[in-house]
Amino acid sequence: MLNIALPKGRLGDKVYALLAGAGYDCREAFDESRKLVFESESADVRYFLVKPSDVAIYVEHGAADIGIVGKDILLESGADIYELLDLGLGKCRMCVAGRNDYVEDTDRTLRVATKFVNVAKRYYAGIGREIEIIKLNGSIELAPLLGLSDVIVDIVESGKTLKDNNLSVLSEIFPISARFIANRASYKFKGGAIDEMLTKLSAAINEEETA
Ligand code: PRP
Repeated sequence: MLNIALPKGRLGDKVYALLAGAGYDCREAFDESRKLVFESESADVRYFLVKPSDVAIYVEHGAADIGIVGKDILLESGADIYELLDLGLGKCRMCVAGRNDYVEDTDRTLRVATKFVNVAKRYYAGIGREIEIIKLNGSIELAPLLGLSDVIVDIVESGKTLKDNNLSVLSEIFPISARFIANRASYKFKGGAIDEMLTKLSAAINEEETA
């Protein structure tokens, strides 16, 4: 049986629909039930519903054989896993953003508010800019509005949150989409079942793209 870690929330709903279309029924994920583990006997898989930011942890440690997770979380976690397929879902961008009237003072250390501490550190190290990180857990856009930071490093999807708060994108760091990942040992021992799932998911994605 394959153990699959699925993200709860926004990305989750899109993922469940794709899985169902590929023959991996996960109807229970849509239920009102608060159950966190359920099985699809017909597809011989067991699902775990986890916080998106925890998917890569379950997979890296082998508690789940495979998982579906955003590229943002994958890059932030640095998890040692196999990334096997880009599902093309949950597309958005990792960006630097600031107030519409923001002008950078390059003589000062840049104060950066973010949930993505490692991503931000790597990005600014890459361009040789000295920064101070302010780690937040949500509503990151508030930080520059309140003078807590100069800029933010965060996900931009529609751009509405930035627009509604008089912020704009200053630079794009990388594009994001959901990835199918596998535990390294699981891929060795359950490679057949994982490859079969990959093939079915790829076919379902292609079908959707050509529809
Ligand atoms: C994410 C992200 C932005 C927003 C971007 O937040 O951190 O705030 O979505 O989406 P948009 O470009 O479509 O407006 P999320 O809703 O996950 O909540 P958070 O504040 O807890 O990070």
